[in-house]
Amino acid sequence: MADSSNAPSSFWTQANALLRKNLIFQKRNIKTNIRLVLFPLFLCLLLVLIQMLVNSELDKPSRRCGCTCVDTGNGQCETRCGIEYSTLDQAFSCPIPHPPEWPPLLQVPAQQYRAVRTDVTSYGDLPGDSCKQTGSCPVTTLITGNNQTFGQTVAGNMLSRPLNINFSDILHSLADYALGSESKTRVVSFIDSAFLSSFPVDLLQPQCLSTSRFSVAIKLGSATLQQDVRCAQGLQLWRNSSTEINDELYKGYRKGNPERKINEILAAYDFENSNENLFNVTVWYNSTYKNDTGNQPLSLIRVPRSINLASNAYLQFLLGPTTKMLFEFVKEMPKSGTKLRLDFSSLLGPLFFTWVIVQLFPVVLTSLVYEKEHRLRIMMKMHGLGDGPYWMISYAYFLAISSIYMLCFVIFGSAIGLNFFRLNDYSIQFVFYFLFINLQICLAFLVADWFSTVKTATVVGYMMVFGTGLLGGFLFQFFLQDSSFPKAGIIAMELFPGFSLYRGLYEFSQYAFNGNYMGTGGMQWKDLNDSNNGMRDVLIIIAVEWLVVLCTAYYADQVVSSGKNPLFFLRKKQKNLSSSSFRKPSLQRQGSKVFVQMEKLDVDQEREKVEQLLLESSTSHSIICNNLKKIYPSRDGNPEKFAVRELSLALAEGECFGMLGPNGAGKTSFINMMIGLIKPSSGTAYVQGLDIRTDMDRIYTSMGVCPQHDLLWETLTGREHLYFYGRLKNLQGAALTQAVEESLKSVNLFHGGVADKKAGKYSGGMKRRLSVAISLIGDPKVVYMDEPSTGLDPASRNMLWNVVKRAKQNRAIILTTHSMEEAEHLCDRLGIFVDGSLQCVGNPKELKGRYGGSYVFTMTTSPTHEEEVEKLVQQLSPNATKVYQISGTQKFELPKNEIRIADVFEAVENAKSRFTVQAWGLADTTLEDVFIKVARGAQEISTLS
Ligand SMILES: *[C@@H]1O[C@H](CO)[C@@H](O)[C@H](O)[C@H]1NC(C)=O
Ligand SMILES: *[C@@H]1O[C@H](CO)[C@@H](O)[C@H](O)[C@H]1NC(C)=O
Ligand SMILES: *[C@@H]1O[C@H](CO)[C@@H](O)[C@H](O)[C@H]1NC(C)=O
Ligand SMILES: *[C@@H]1O[C@H](CO)[C@@H](O)[C@H](O)[C@H]1NC(C)=O
Ligand SMILES: *[C@@H]1O[C@H](CO)[C@@H](O)[C@H](O)[C@H]1NC(C)=O
Repeated sequence: MADSSNAPSSFWTQANALLRKNLIFQKRNIKTNIRLVLFPLFLCLLLVLIQMLVNSELDKPSRRCGCTCVDTGNGQCETRCGIEYSTLDQAFSCPIPHPPEWPPLLQVPAQQYRAVRTDVTSYGDLPGDSCKQTGSCPVTTLITGNNQTFGQTVAGNMLSRPLNINFSDILHSLADYALGSESKTRVVSFIDSAFLSSFPVDLLQPQCLSTSRFSVAIKLGSATLQQDVRCAQGLQLWRNSSTEINDELYKGYRKGNPERKINEILAAYDFENSNENLFNVTVWYNSTYKNDTGNQPLSLIRVPRSINLASNAYLQFLLGPTTKMLFEFVKEMPKSGTKLRLDFSSLLGPLFFTWVIVQLFPVVLTSLVYEKEHRLRIMMKMHGLGDGPYWMISYAYFLAISSIYMLCFVIFGSAIGLNFFRLNDYSIQFVFYFLFINLQICLAFLVADWFSTVKTATVVGYMMVFGTGLLGGFLFQFFLQDSSFPKAGIIAMELFPGFSLYRGLYEFSQYAFNGNYMGTGGMQWKDLNDSNNGMRDVLIIIAVEWLVVLCTAYYADQVVSSGKNPLFFLRKKQKNLSSSSFRKPSLQRQGSKVFVQMEKLDVDQEREKVEQLLLESSTSHSIICNNLKKIYPSRDGNPEKFAVRELSLALAEGECFGMLGPNGAGKTSFINMMIGLIKPSSGTAYVQGLDIRTDMDRIYTSMGVCPQHDLLWETLTGREHLYFYGRLKNLQGAALTQAVEESLKSVNLFHGGVADKKAGKYSGGMKRRLSVAISLIGDPKVVYMDEPSTGLDPASRNMLWNVVKRAKQNRAIILTTHSMEEAEHLCDRLGIFVDGSLQCVGNPKELKGRYGGSYVFTMTTSPTHEEEVEKLVQQLSPNATKVYQISGTQKFELPKNEIRIADVFEAVENAKSRFTVQAWGLADTTLEDVFIKVARGAQEISTLS
């Protein structure tokens, strides 16, 4: 066991130890982990649910191709299927193998909106508004041009007079007439909606002679569609200029107009400079919806007929009424069916999935901050864990967790059929997610340095999760969809990792959505070249950020956590600088010489011993402190603080050195220097011959620390702690098991299953004992214990003392304590440490002899006999001093060389015969008296100087 621990543990041993610890830690956190994994599953299921609702709505019979709802009369409807065309809504996705032909139509204003005379229009040729009551308002067309005769002649040819329809050739014979409808058109349809609407088709004639209607039949597959046709008067009015027309049309708009002012017209023709030789016409049409996509009305389909009307009329003007240029029918192109699936999950994906992925950030962050908050990182370091293994294992560990998480997420998403995952190339997804989780881990490492508590890290982390998702979904996406937003701006925003993630997911969702809708696949590698595809930029940004953040995080970690100089990579240069700075405080040296003169011979001797040892460069001593000094620089106007002044101390192997001292004397500063938490301002110490300024990393491998506050993982058991630290100390296999068992037994944590309880559930005393056990595991050569027995009950304390006593056989122990009893019990030598320097060094007996050369004599009588007691003491010892006197109780110090104990007893017996002695006592000086004396003396001197 001793052999193996001498060799410092290798990189892989440390990595192995850390990995095993992390795995156990993870196992303990199983509930949190399950919750973590369930979150994306929950979101995926939610998406699937929404998708199913949408699908079931789309799958309703009323939306299925070839089905229609037939009204059965009593308000209910019966679904009939198996017909070729059913409703216009279905035309969007249903196949149209044999599109029907239908006569071209004009867009006719609805009855109530047709132009009439009103107080806003100055034209008297418009009809009065009484026609609105009878529903017989004419449909107005406005004409203008350079030559009124010409214009009106041509316009007159537009509307045929005699009604002569051959029903067996309906399309051909209807082509002579101007037909129109007030129904709204559709973007996707297989027939003009006019033939399926409740409004009859209007047949425009100069005069409606009969109000009778007839119906036209249009063949729709195997069925026939009947639609009523009724006559509507077409009114053609001459205007003198296009400006007038413009003005009149402007007043016609429905929107924003009180109803009475609406004045819609069919169309307006400006023949401009047309004549027999030139046909130059401008047609006005209502283009309100001319370029809307989606399912809003689109009137463009009803524009061609209005042009044909003018062309045909002009042709007839030139060549006579028998010449015709017929516009017989309109027909859709045949098309195949498309699947009617609104891929909702793809549309909502970016927001949900941003949450899912960024959720890992607080997880990694809190885990890092936890180790920082509880100072576990430094604790591990002090027990020999190097930065290399720490980084490698932590990084690999978080990467593994993130990868598993993402893998579950993608597999689950694919399994439940989300197109977002299934359509896009998995290799692109892999690269994208992999790069991003790496970036995220590095960011967490970087940001972890800013947080000191898990609570704030958690709060900030989750705020970032939701903030990123929402900002991405409701702000960033807005910029993405705004094609006028400069690309550079988007790229700048993508520098924020959350947005680059959002962008990537957004691209996936767009490709998945379009791929699903169009029947093409999702994103493929070749699609990265698309100009609209931001994925390539995003991948580059993330990859570059990953590297930059990784380096920055490592650098920051070295500076912040490992306490290295910000310029540590220029190490050589730095060394010269610092060695010169050691000589700076020469003034202080003289100041402390004064102290040395104050009869601190023992301290002086120790200093000489150290100097001697340094010359000999002998290795018989485990710890040699040479003029160790720590000055805290002045801050906020406070003067510099000397925490440790020129401390020289040599500790042999097998020695336990106790450090006593009042609070704030600098004991903890001293320990912190020795364990590498802070750097000495000057001087140095050698541990096993290694310099604490330069070789701390090697010192750590043979060092044990029991810090003042227990640094433990709450979810790991005592046994697991010991296994972890034992492995760090290069213990393996049976030796490790044995060491852990022994260690647990020695601190009384073995029985009753205590060893397998989580450390978070331990009482203060148990934690303390575990800390001591940790500091001793792996047979370290040097152990520092900062107040190891604070808060222990007497029984545990005794047990702990036995452990320490046994442990000190072959190692050096430095122990700070407030308990004199403990110091006396454990330590071979003691140093009383006041105001940053040692006041005395020696073994307890020596110290007591030197500082406590007196007995303490106490006697209690009635107050009337006080003088007699004083006299008695005077007789015993003329140099006695009274320490205190309170209502009959007096305490004296009697120099040891002046009295014999037997005399004291005799004198007391005599006194008892003369007056009543209620109580009396004689005591040797305790270490406590020594301590108080030394501490008080030193403080008096320091206030004097
Ligand atoms: C106007 O048009 C008519 C009919 O085409 C034509 O006879 C007449 O000469 C034209 N007038 C002018 C001024 O061009
Ligand atoms: C009606 O159209 C059919 C088919 O083109 C034709 O055979 C028939 O002669 C026409 N009838 C009249 C009265 O023009
Ligand atoms: C054009 O059509 C729209 C929509 O049908 C209507 O609101 C508007 O009033 C029309 N304008 C004119 C001048 O007919
Ligand atoms: C047709 O009329 C427009 C005026 O609206 C004019 O600019 C254009 O030159 C004319 N075309 C011809 C061939 O005269
Ligand atoms: C209609 O919209 C498309 C796409 O938004 C555009 O490319 C096209 O130029 C528009 N057409 C007109 C006439 O404005």
